[in-house]
Amino acid sequence: MISAQVQLASYLFASILFILSLGGLSSQESAKRGVLFGIVGMIIAILSTVLGEGVQGHIYIIAAIAIASLIGIIVARKVEMTSMPQLVAILHSFVGLAAVLVGFGSYMDPKTQALTGVEHNIHLVEIFIGVFIGAITFTGSVIAWGKLEGKIRSKPLVYPGRHLVNIALVIVCAILCWMFLVAPGTDGMMHLYIMTAIASFIGIMLVMAIGGADMPVVVSMLNSYSGWAAAAAGFMLGNDLLIVTGALVGSSGAILSIIMCEAMNRSFWSVIFGGFGAGPTGPAKEVTGEVTSVNHQEASQLVKDAKSVVIVPGYGMAVAKAQFPVHELIQKLKKDGKEVRFGIHPVAGRLPGHMNVLLAEANVPYDIVLEMEEINEDLPETDLVMIIGANDIVNPSAQDDENSPIYGMPVIEAWKAKNVIVMKRSMATGYAGVQNPLFFKENTDMLYGDAKDSVSKINGFLLEN
Ligand code: TAP
Repeated sequence: MISAQVQLASYLFASILFILSLGGLSSQESAKRGVLFGIVGMIIAILSTVLGEGVQGHIYIIAAIAIASLIGIIVARKVEMTSMPQLVAILHSFVGLAAVLVGFGSYMDPKTQALTGVEHNIHLVEIFIGVFIGAITFTGSVIAWGKLEGKIRSKPLVYPGRHLVNIALVIVCAILCWMFLVAPGTDGMMHLYIMTAIASFIGIMLVMAIGGADMPVVVSMLNSYSGWAAAAAGFMLGNDLLIVTGALVGSSGAILSIIMCEAMNRSFWSVIFGGFGAGPTGPAKEVTGEVTSVNHQEASQLVKDAKSVVIVPGYGMAVAKAQFPVHELIQKLKKDGKEVRFGIHPVAGRLPGHMNVLLAEANVPYDIVLEMEEINEDLPETDLVMIIGANDIVNPSAQDDENSPIYGMPVIEAWKAKNVIVMKRSMATGYAGVQNPLFFKENTDMLYGDAKDSVSKINGFLLEN
């Protein structure tokens, strides 16, 4: 057992570690250290809570932690990098569900019932708001998981007057909150249940209304919601550390969402409220031109002929695990005296920083990995762009077709280079489900096949001489 003072000091120490952890995660060089700070902070947080005064039933807590840790370790070891966003989404849903359950428990707690006057009312409002945010986070995250996993169609589900319906539902929840506050004893439970059902419905509809290409923002937004849900649980339980940690996650998730909205040229509010404003008003432009393809030998000849090469990786590189042969490729190109760099789109792949993580895994040096804005300037002077399993992030419709669902999203302007090779398995669309006119351009050649296999074969031809 530890005293309340020692617990407070441990909470403060854990909070500092969480802040250092977030700081560390902001750059690739310090990311590992950041993760370590987070792990140590979490261990201190759990131990100082479990060993705190008034905590009983340690045997059950230890058993729960042991089982949950085992499940966590198995899931984390098994999950593929490409499924990471789904895992993150489902973990967010747990935070939301926990806030809902803590809210119900806290309302039934005799200590809550023993409170009087303002203190009682404030605590009930904390419970109501906590359960409201928790329920939205829970169902919203489950829908996000379904969309990312491909179990729910990614097309936005919108119906006329949906914003009015949502506003009306929030007003009903406000009325329920007042009824909940004045209900005697635990009679407010029914109001809490009804509000939970309404908030769950709002969570479903908010995420259902958001379409394919905007999903990255939804994931980071739900990350933010889960932080606020945790902070709300902290208020309900009177746990300062949970409030601080929740606020850190909530605000960093909100900042990440804003950064991603800016990167995708989307309004933050339009994404939050699910497609606010005008969508496409007509059919997408018809794609003209002819698709040409090359084989691996012809592709390697194009590589040999190029003096400057830019590699644009996308989701397909993650699926194929092509980052390792890609590293071999750049080593060979550098040895041959070519200028070789990477162009990274902010939403390439399926989670923020996805491509950077993969390239770091394959030990690609950071200094040749450039962001979209930096690389776009140089593309008109580039001999060859090699697109490895990317699609939406190099789609010119984002710039020239107002009726495209991805219109307005900044993209890597690969078509401005002298030659382009697109490595993918077929002519299938990407995440946003839209045709890509880049594949039909004169300076573009398709190289069909699995990205890892294609890059390895090109490496083979390059090594031949
Ligand atoms: P996508 O547009 O999804 O295109 C990926 C392409 O990779 C597909 O067209 C697919 O074509 C190809 N591919 C799949 N497996 C492959 C393999 N084994 N070998 C070679 N190619 C393979 O990916 P992107 O260009 O990276 O764009 C990301 C998209 O995901 C954006 O729409 C973005 O909004 C969305 N999104 C991003 C995030 C974050 S945070 N990054 C989160 C959720 C959604 P084939 O089937 O023909 O091979």
